[in-house]
Amino acid sequence: MDYVCLKCQRKLVDRDNDWYCEYCQISWPKIHGLDCFFDRDDYWGEISRDEMKQLLASIERDGWQKANRELAQKDPQRLKFIYNPGRADWRFYVPLDNQSVVLDAGCGLGAITLPLAEVVKEVVAFDTSCERARFVQLRAAKENKTNIQVLVASLFNPPFKKQSFDLIVMNGLLEWVGAGKIDGNPGEIQIEALKKMKELLKPGGCLYIGIENRFGLPLLTGRGLDHSGLRFTSIMPRFLARIYAKIRRKSDYRTYTYTRRGYEKLLNDAGFENIDFFLPWPGYNDTRIIVPHRNLNALRYLVLNIMSSNSFVKKIVKIAIRIPFVLRLYRFLFFSFGIVANKNKQ
Ligand SMILES: C[S@@+](CC[C@H](N)C(=O)[O-])C[C@H]1O[C@@H](n2cnc3c(N)ncnc32)[C@H](O)[C@@H]1O
Ligand SMILES: [Zn+2]
Repeated sequence: MDYVCLKCQRKLVDRDNDWYCEYCQISWPKIHGLDCFFDRDDYWGEISRDEMKQLLASIERDGWQKANRELAQKDPQRLKFIYNPGRADWRFYVPLDNQSVVLDAGCGLGAITLPLAEVVKEVVAFDTSCERARFVQLRAAKENKTNIQVLVASLFNPPFKKQSFDLIVMNGLLEWVGAGKIDGNPGEIQIEALKKMKELLKPGGCLYIGIENRFGLPLLTGRGLDHSGLRFTSIMPRFLARIYAKIRRKSDYRTYTYTRRGYEKLLNDAGFENIDFFLPWPGYNDTRIIVPHRNLNALRYLVLNIMSSNSFVKKIVKIAIRIPFVLRLYRFLFFSFGIVANKNKQ
């Protein structure tokens, strides 16, 4: 995929150490072979920045086997989170083929990037964090995936021509974009982010979002933490969540999640259409099964035959789900959603 200037949108020239706009005479560096279009020193991670740096050093020094063994010793769940290809299984619900060009926005450690590259022509993956982008670059090289292009960039200022992609993935990203900007209403920032992604889609292109449900049962019952690191903030009115987060964590509440209807509205406001919902189980970051939101029979089967009943809440759900009204309602209390939305064809 060609890069364009962040200022004038003209194609950039590939030089030894940077990407250069001949018209604006601005350049963007290549750092350790990584194209960098974002100059803020950002880090977000499931593991700390120091651990991430150590991991990268260990991969380069001792190879992947040893590095992964060390990672697994610390926390086996991490390996699953990074390497479980099931996290991209929603790809069977979107129109993709071996000619598709895909953008993985906020690619993190590449859990979605790598499995997608198996089935499409090209995956472009970017993240604001250099260390995470570097990890994906090393992973792609190790797997001999020559159809993956990795760069450091922000979703608000991506170096691509408009209408370049058939599919854009925002897995675990939309909820964080309001936190990355300190000014402005998080909801409006989320719409701005969606509009940016829409510009990059080809006409008729498709956006996939993996994200939590604001009223997911674990959040409603206080078993799970919201993105604020606190319980119950997602279900509070926003103003209350902001006051509560200020008192408890001395920080603003900016990681907005929504109900199904809320996501529909957000996507409509950004100009998307044909919005379709899926229920990934157990969650969008550890998917084993994906049920279309409208398929009640499949949902009943999942709850009765596949879901465990290892907690009190789950036991209640298993009994109550036989009542048609509860089955319908349960979809709206599912922990997370996979959302597929389209850009119109004109
Ligand atoms: C929860 S992680 C999800 C990572 C990956 N998509 C996955 O599913 O494993 C969110 C990622 O988005 C990145 N991110 C946050 N704000 C961003 C922005 N404005 N532009 C690009 N990436 C961003 C973070 O650095 C982080 O890697
Ligand atoms: Zn320029």
